[in-house]
Amino acid sequence: MKKYVAEPFRIKMVETIKMTSKAERKKKLEKAFYNVFNLRGEDVYIDLLTDSGTNAMSADQWAGIMHGDEAYAGARSYYHLIDAGKDIFGYEFIQPVHQGRAAEKVVFPLILGKGKIAISNMFFDTTRAHVELAGARAVDCVVEEAKHPQVQSPFKGNMDVKKLEEKINEYGKENVGLIVMTITNNSAGGQPVSIENMRQVAAIAKKYGIPLDIDAARYAENAYFIKQREEEFKKSSIKAIIKEMFSYADMFTMSAKKDAIVNMGGLIGIKRDAELYQKIKGNCISYEGFITYGGLSGRDLEALAIGLYEGLEEDYLKYRIGQMEYLAGLLDDAKIAYQSPVGGHGVFIDAKALLPHIPYHQFPGQALALELYLEAGIRACDIGSYMLGNDPDTGKQLQADFEFTRLAIPRRVYTQSHLDIIAEALITIKKHADKVPGYKITWEPPVLRHFQAHLEPMK
Ligand code: F0G
Repeated sequence: MKKYVAEPFRIKMVETIKMTSKAERKKKLEKAFYNVFNLRGEDVYIDLLTDSGTNAMSADQWAGIMHGDEAYAGARSYYHLIDAGKDIFGYEFIQPVHQGRAAEKVVFPLILGKGKIAISNMFFDTTRAHVELAGARAVDCVVEEAKHPQVQSPFKGNMDVKKLEEKINEYGKENVGLIVMTITNNSAGGQPVSIENMRQVAAIAKKYGIPLDIDAARYAENAYFIKQREEEFKKSSIKAIIKEMFSYADMFTMSAKKDAIVNMGGLIGIKRDAELYQKIKGNCISYEGFITYGGLSGRDLEALAIGLYEGLEEDYLKYRIGQMEYLAGLLDDAKIAYQSPVGGHGVFIDAKALLPHIPYHQFPGQALALELYLEAGIRACDIGSYMLGNDPDTGKQLQADFEFTRLAIPRRVYTQSHLDIIAEALITIKKHADKVPGYKITWEPPVLRHFQAHLEPMK
């Protein structure tokens, strides 16, 4: 068992959550077509669907909300945000947008198009969708050890640099429009990327003249792991590590709903390409709103400017990663497998190991998520074949490298006892694991189907 790192804050405001009965939850699942995204939030006891936008803001951030400047153009809050962004990331141009996928929608069509390839350590689902919506194809090149939940390795989020170079040569460098480094690597289990790996990828990008983008949703958690695990950075500040990391890329697209500890927001950063930034401003005005608010209220800009700094505090990051390590420790004791070592924003249960009787096309990660809700009112989600979806060319179900049920932990929201309840529920499920059914899809939309699909249990 791992000791819990106590919260470096006290609680000033609370929100009541309610427990439902198992019989009620059974009905609610049926009504939701066995899709956790169709459940009402108020019917969930502990909500681990995502760590995105579900964060608790600080007293300073709430005070910032009241100071928000709602001017359409040139708001004070915009300049606060730009100053924070330039200071932390060291980039010349910072553009707010309303969330991460908005950044992708604004940037990717300017760089990618029909026939182009984008290569990443691993694309998150909306990022993959925006590559495809821009007419291009998305290719993952994560290191092999990421695919084996039991293999212990410090940077399982890394790019396989040998494979990256092979892919560039296979497709032809003129066809590879973009390299994307997702930090931390969400789909591989919130696994970190090392600076060493970033340097290698940057060298390859430079050699072939391909722009390098950081998908920066969990950049601060990634920096904390670097400090813990990469010798060269043991004595560096989190801020210095972030500066170093971002110095290797040409741009970043960021969902600020994660490490910037707000409920809504996103950022685009461009290191120095003024011409690209000019085009980004054009797309932003068309899709998001004027340059100085980018789809956000002035108050959101203000809370984000403050949250960017709070997310870098080392005591907070120690507590934050400590929560994952504590929950993972409880699962170690119960011999429940997960992507290990545990990642930065959640515990990714190895559903394939827990439910070996369910094949990938009956979605073990989804099956475990549904069982967790039934058992204890806990909402989690699939990160596996159900989320991956169908091959865009053939329409056939793809098989993911792993079948995870993700327990994403919102920031500053749940306590040690909540984590205990989560572990207890999984231990109970483990006892009747062979009775948990697989699922089949009865209806699905063409893009990002996991958010909306209808399912039913196999008989
Ligand atoms: N990139 C990564 C790595 C993400 O994890 C997400 C969102 C996005 C981009 C898109 O950002 O939601 O602000 O539009 N991830 C959330 C999740 C939804 O639950 O992991 P967004």
